[in-house]
Amino acid sequence: MLTIKEMEALLEKSLQHKRFEHSLAVFDTAVELARIHGADEEKVAIAALLHDCGREIPTRRNLAQAAELGIPIDEIEANQPILLHAKLGVHYAQHKYGVADKEILDAILYHTTGAPGMTQTAVIVYLADLLEPKRGFYGIDEMRSLAKTDLEKTLLKAYAMTIRYLLEHDLLIHPNCIYGRNELAIKFKQMNRTF
Ligand SMILES: [Fe+2]
Ligand SMILES: [Fe+2]
Repeated sequence: MLTIKEMEALLEKSLQHKRFEHSLAVFDTAVELARIHGADEEKVAIAALLHDCGREIPTRRNLAQAAELGIPIDEIEANQPILLHAKLGVHYAQHKYGVADKEILDAILYHTTGAPGMTQTAVIVYLADLLEPKRGFYGIDEMRSLAKTDLEKTLLKAYAMTIRYLLEHDLLIHPNCIYGRNELAIKFKQMNRTF
């Protein structure tokens, strides 16, 4: 595995400047959340830095590239190929950046859709991707402060926001997103917690 500095240098060469800047912003946000919540800072840092490394392929080539690499493509990905940058990212993280750790790879895999059973590392990367300083949407400041105290509640709100956005824009909703949201919603209901 490369050092984080080496990964950063390689990523800078591989991504468009704007995407590289976004990756650094997600890295900073994720590391801050990892510190606050006592998560594994190194895993969070690597997963956050590399979460969009699959974006080195232009989106219009995602399907062909995934097929070429033997990456399984589900029906939702086939019809919304942007989603494949997560699986492509796992491939590059392994083969270009030398990452073998399953927790890091899963955090990259689930950063776009979320999923049930996400580790704390994956939750932090998912939320940091949404809440990094350059993002702006209604209610983001409340979500940023909530993320510092309650990752699960922030995640539940993030799922709701993402699903609303996908519906409003006539986009497909990946089952991992639905399953992840329901898993958390069931947990909240069983604990009588407000959403
Ligand atoms: Fe992404
Ligand atoms: Fe991202």
